[in-house]
Amino acid sequence: MKKYKIGIIGGTGMVGQRLITLLAPHPWFDLTVIAASGRSAGQPYEKAVGGRWALKAEMPEKAKNIIVMDADKDAEIIANTVDFVFCAVNMDKAAILALEEKYAKLECPVISNNSANRWTPDVPMVVPELNPEHLAVLESQKKRLGTKRGFIAVKSNCSIQNYVPALHPFREKYGIDKILVCTYQAISGAGKTFERWPEMIDNVIPYIGGEEEKSEKEPLRIWGKVEGGVIVPATEPAITAQCIRVPVTDGHMSATFVTFKKKPPMEEMIETWNNFKGRAQELNLPSAPKQFLHYFTEPDRPQTRSERELEGGMAVSIGRLRPDTQYDYKFVTLSHNTLRGAAGGGVLLAELLCADGYIDAKN
Ligand SMILES: NC(=O)c1ccc[n+]([C@@H]2O[C@H](COP(=O)([O-])OP(=O)(O)OC[C@H]3O[C@@H](n4cnc5c(N)ncnc54)[C@H](OP(=O)(O)O)[C@@H]3O)[C@@H](O)[C@H]2O)c1
Repeated sequence: MKKYKIGIIGGTGMVGQRLITLLAPHPWFDLTVIAASGRSAGQPYEKAVGGRWALKAEMPEKAKNIIVMDADKDAEIIANTVDFVFCAVNMDKAAILALEEKYAKLECPVISNNSANRWTPDVPMVVPELNPEHLAVLESQKKRLGTKRGFIAVKSNCSIQNYVPALHPFREKYGIDKILVCTYQAISGAGKTFERWPEMIDNVIPYIGGEEEKSEKEPLRIWGKVEGGVIVPATEPAITAQCIRVPVTDGHMSATFVTFKKKPPMEEMIETWNNFKGRAQELNLPSAPKQFLHYFTEPDRPQTRSERELEGGMAVSIGRLRPDTQYDYKFVTLSHNTLRGAAGGGVLLAELLCADGYIDAKN
């Protein structure tokens, strides 16, 4: 099979490093270009990252000597060299919107980890197991941009990637009335390690800027409908969230309380979770977990250290389902924030886009 040539914009960052470790051995994708800011451009990747390498895994040999390009100045060369790019950059919203649109207009599809385009009406925000049908809006986006193959597709925020998958299978059959969720989020979600954020050692910070709004609103977009070439967000359920930074390296946990319109039996919920399959499993995509949702019966699971790497960090772990005094049920979920929640989710979305014919290998 011919491999797709890919570029990573923001390859020196936390998500970029994860992308590089996932893509170096990928069966469909060939890591060809790494780009970042002018600060890193012109240097071999290993030197540009320097002491910032944040992963336990070794830096892939293949990446070490790639000369980092300038994401903005070299955009045209990059767009001509690769079949598509992943984008994970730390810039202000206006600059990200401009950068992503620049690549799309250069006929280079962009799979984005950034939040800037998550509410652009014709930009699909897709979790491959939940809402692959949203990719249909790409046709109208390409018309708006005046492109033949260039477009932007995004993945959702890492905070919602465990409780939304857990609730999704019941939405159609039972209806969801209201959700209360508290998230306990790892420091890598802020692009940090303990070395670079010593304030987090032995500490909890009850504030993550912008995160509660994303956690309350993004599920409604995932559960929205395609109408007239745009995504129309769902208007229910009502969702309220508190997001808290906790001293763990990787893995976001959530405690969820839910009331359904019609209450499903507990046994059915557990069976549904363990048997749930989405488009990623149907297509047997290389990064798809064989089982997306895993229910743990032990009273003290899932735990961050033992469960976050489940199925390559791409599965969601669920536990402690029980009746609640004020809501129908409460339960706990966990997913890896830089794998399923960021880089891995982006790679899975790219695999879906390739498998479903939205991206071709042009070179
Ligand atoms: N960490 C997570 O768990 C997570 C989860 C979901 C989404 N995200 C999103 O992913 C994006 C990246 O997050 P991160 O945690 O990887 O951030 P990060 O570690 O701070 O890395 C930022 C990257 O952006 C690059 N960059 C900064 N300014 C630039 C510019 N002017 N032009 C080109 N590149 C520039 C940096 O390049 P230099 O090295 O050259 O400065 C670096 O490669 C953010 O939008 C974040 O919200 C993160």
